[in-house]
Amino acid sequence: RTLKIGLIPGDGIGREVIPAGRRILEALPSSLNLKFSFTHLDAGWETFQKQGVALPDKTVEVLKSDCDGALFGAVSSPTVQTKGYSSPIVALRKRLGLYANVRPVKSVGSGGKVGKVDMVIVRENTEDLYVKEEKTYTAADGSKVAEAIKRITEKASYNIAAMAGDIALRRQRVREAGAESIHSRPQVTVTHKSNVLSQTDGLFRETARRALAEQKYQSVKVEEQIVDSMVYKLFRQPADYDVIVAPNLYGDILSDGAAALVGSLGLVPSANVGTGFAIGEPCHGSAPDIEGKGIANPIATLRSTALMLEFMGEEEAAAVIYKAVDANLEEGRLLSPDLGGKATTEEVIEDVCKRL
Ligand code: NAI
Ligand code: MG
Repeated sequence: RTLKIGLIPGDGIGREVIPAGRRILEALPSSLNLKFSFTHLDAGWETFQKQGVALPDKTVEVLKSDCDGALFGAVSSPTVQTKGYSSPIVALRKRLGLYANVRPVKSVGSGGKVGKVDMVIVRENTEDLYVKEEKTYTAADGSKVAEAIKRITEKASYNIAAMAGDIALRRQRVREAGAESIHSRPQVTVTHKSNVLSQTDGLFRETARRALAEQKYQSVKVEEQIVDSMVYKLFRQPADYDVIVAPNLYGDILSDGAAALVGSLGLVPSANVGTGFAIGEPCHGSAPDIEGKGIANPIATLRSTALMLEFMGEEEAAAVIYKAVDANLEEGRLLSPDLGGKATTEEVIEDVCKRL
């Protein structure tokens, strides 16, 4: 099978880590029978400065018509409001219908203070308060009032819950195939605040429950957590969680919070997923403070590459990459400076590739 991958390095260390994704794909064992072809695509702040748009139409067209998946590095945002500039990753999610943001968070070795962590946060990515329908008006007493719409649909709630269920089942398959994990059975935690927002979050909760009650998720343990106590438990007993599903805003906050459990942003991958298409994306930004030094941690990108493969149905290839990354981290001999080591980006990539 030949897979066509779009590479969108973006800005800053995006350009130093996206090549790692390409390298690991090219280094996969030939027994997997996978071939890759790569297309370089523009997006980001530098693209904006050169072409006047942060996301050229060509990038979207090539992704739509000629790619099976893609890797996105990071982009720098202008520090002052710039006319005509808008975030290319937000636009990409919209234009490609990537309705889910999936963020696995896994600890190294025995984990930090809170012990081992191995969870995935599945965030709805198209609605909720982020529909950006806001208005400001003046109240009768002359003071200002601002309002925002929180829109929850049955359709999007259903789709995101089903995706969480599918991910829980897939994680179980990967575990059964030998991947080590702290979990022994699939579990999905539905997060909401329906005790207060009984209509919006109520619809999310109800719909998610209904989706996950379907026959194919029979083996998945489904539980619920109110979002505020979710935050508490996330930091007290993170090992209790396998897959967490949440509406957009709570998912955004939970996923950044969860990333803090494992030490460095340089470790945390994500994927933007729609029907039949996924873009792997490290969670970190363009890191101008370390740009050009050759010390950016490539692991978030390597894991994002594996995650992209999972959504392309290449679970075995993904597992091979996860294992190699875990082995590098566990041995701890070649770590980048963000993890307290001295290794360069190149040395980490080489070490992981050798372990494939
Ligand atoms: P950042 O994630 O770029 O950096 C935060 C800190 O983490 C820095 O000290 C950086 O050196 C470190 N770090 C991040 N990734 C690392 C890696 N792979 N290896 C080692 N250390 C790493 O966030 P920051 O500084 O807030 O933003 C910088 C720029 O990136 C801004 O222009 C921001 O708008 C943009 N950004 C873009 C994102 C995206 O494209 N998805 C996400 C977050 C920020
Ligand atoms: Mg965020």
